[in-house]
Amino acid sequence: MIPIKLKDVLIDPPLVLAPMAGVTNHAFRIMCKRNGGAGLVCTEMFSAYAIKFRDPRTASMLDWTDEERPVSAQVFGGDPETVAVGARAMQDAGADVVDVNFGCPVPKVAKSGSGAMLLKDMGLAREILAAARSAIDGPLTIKTRIGWDADVTVLELAEAAQEAGVDAISVHARTAVQGYSGKADWDIIAEVVKRVGIPVIANGDVKSPVDAARLFEQTNCSGIMIGRASLGDPWIFGRNAEYLKTGVLPPEPDAMQRLQGAREHAALLRMVLGEARAAKEMRGHLVFYLKGMPGAPALRNRLMLTRSVEEILEVLDEACSKC
Ligand SMILES: Cc1cc2nc3c(=O)[nH]c(=O)nc-3n(C[C@H](O)[C@H](O)[C@H](O)COP(=O)(O)O)c2cc1C
Repeated sequence: MIPIKLKDVLIDPPLVLAPMAGVTNHAFRIMCKRNGGAGLVCTEMFSAYAIKFRDPRTASMLDWTDEERPVSAQVFGGDPETVAVGARAMQDAGADVVDVNFGCPVPKVAKSGSGAMLLKDMGLAREILAAARSAIDGPLTIKTRIGWDADVTVLELAEAAQEAGVDAISVHARTAVQGYSGKADWDIIAEVVKRVGIPVIANGDVKSPVDAARLFEQTNCSGIMIGRASLGDPWIFGRNAEYLKTGVLPPEPDAMQRLQGAREHAALLRMVLGEARAAKEMRGHLVFYLKGMPGAPALRNRLMLTRSVEEILEVLDEACSKC
């Protein structure tokens, strides 16, 4: 595993927490960072329009701390000038890496011509790449899918990104139309790696250290990005790093570790979101932390009735004492 260097920023190990809206806020990024193995953590995506019009809620989410570094902040937008404003704002707020979203298929994002919609308009994509590049001098990356539909346009986009001076490209190996259905097509990532000289970070369907090793081998990528498999499992980066380094498969986290991790996550979320919002969001995470644990259904039912982080912590403490 060779670290990735993007200008002055070192991604070591080259394992990246994927940007996930509603998930990768300060609390979750810290959980992944503290447990080792994540060489780079990404924020949720921010609307460049919201940044341009100084939306206070968006501004409050630019809340990374030194403990998380290096951190990548992601923006999306469908017009060059607005993306430039967003990218500059991320750099000014101290992001180590600025990422522009070229892959989000959700209608709210795509309808503004942003995200994966750019895979259908290479002219506009090039303008956005140039605008983002001239807006910042630090590392600039893009994250994309393999195409909007069966027409694979990622190779053309990757070349355009390289020409524009983008420092790395992350590829989720599905089309926008696929959403999350089917299997990620790692062979297309291998083609992107062959086509460009900048680092390619491979993404899609890595669920275990063995998958991570296979993805490196199959694509010759420079790094690996993990999203869904980190839900309820912020330890996955550490296990992957260990396995890739030693070839020895580390054990999965046991019930006690998971309950304590959930506890720490809930307390961090409370600091970020306040008691009520944190409790609501944490109930979503708890489903993943408890998955497959003995006694999980009864514990989950109790936790779903909680209304505050305080109550969540009480239930988790009780579960820990019986563990
Ligand atoms: C809940 C959720 C939110 C996501 N939000 C974003 C986002 O804000 N920006 C982005 O580029 N991708 C986003 N994604 C896509 C992931 O970054 C990643 O590309 C995708 O989940 C595939 O990787 P995986 O198989 O490791 O999960 C999101 C995915 C999920 C599940």
